[in-house]
Amino acid sequence: MIQELCVVLGHRPAGENIFTLGFTSPAIARMTRAGQFLNIKVGGGADPLLRRPFSVYHTDGAVVEIVFNVIGRGTAALCRKQPGETIDVLGPLGVPFGIETPDFETGVLVAGGLGVAPMPLATRALRASGKQVVTFLGAHNAGSIVAAHLLNVRLSTDDGSSGFHGTVVDLARQSLARREFRRPKIFACGPTAMLRAVARLAEELEIACEVSLEGPMACGFGICQGCPVELAGGGYALMCKDGPVFDIRRIIL
Ligand SMILES: Cc1cc2nc3c(=O)[nH]c(=O)nc-3n(C[C@H](O)[C@H](O)[C@H](O)COP(=O)(O)OP(=O)(O)OC[C@H]3O[C@@H](n4cnc5c(N)ncnc54)[C@H](O)[C@@H]3O)c2cc1C
Ligand code: FES
Repeated sequence: MIQELCVVLGHRPAGENIFTLGFTSPAIARMTRAGQFLNIKVGGGADPLLRRPFSVYHTDGAVVEIVFNVIGRGTAALCRKQPGETIDVLGPLGVPFGIETPDFETGVLVAGGLGVAPMPLATRALRASGKQVVTFLGAHNAGSIVAAHLLNVRLSTDDGSSGFHGTVVDLARQSLARREFRRPKIFACGPTAMLRAVARLAEELEIACEVSLEGPMACGFGICQGCPVELAGGGYALMCKDGPVFDIRRIIL
């Protein structure tokens, strides 16, 4: 993990109220593995005081990109960053997806909304490991689909404006129940309700599954104890240090 003042290259719209932001960091670009995140201090002063966690969305050479929804003060400040300004970046943090394991042949990516953020790096790592990739991508509507850098995308929207009309888990269920993929393993990221549905699906069909959680955090590296995740075997893990990626059987969502 490093802490670095990184120069912003700029941002561009990626969907309704969704932006990507690029900055330069050869070290973070080189070190990051799929599923890891950065804790970013967006303002120079006290507002906002706390860092904000973001998945690493894409890397290209020395350039690192995040993708974000403008939600509150932190993401609004990120959106105002101009090329040449700096952000204070801590990372890469957390446990990555278990991609290089021999226990599966097809990586089934299931992403809801901005849960797509870790999927481009997951796609790249899966391909580099010689695995097949299929991506189930769900969004509220056609305007909020972020599908760059993905492979074999099957879309769903809540309002039916693009792709399957319904939830991304219902869409994934159709293919997984038909056993369309050789030795699948699910990698999922999205809202908690979606991850609960993914957990039920994985259990029912007996498919290995890892989920990446996106709950509230503060320090981002195990000091403040502010990000507990309940463990199935009793006790708690820390989302930032022991996750954000967990085997679904280990945790209670
Ligand atoms: C490991 C990890 C990776 C993440 N990756 C991304 C990413 O790639 N892209 C992205 O857009 N977001 C991501 N998030 C969520 C992101 O950190 C929050 O959206 C961000 O902190 C919001 O900051 P803000 O200052 O704009 O909003 P705040 O002012 O902090 O919050 C505004 C409102 O949004 C609510 N809120 C804050 N965070 C979340 C959240 N995580 N989920 C739901 N509601 C929330 C708050 O409760 C509050 O009501 C990630 C979170 C984690 C833990
Ligand atoms: S955010 Fe501080 S321990 Fe996890």
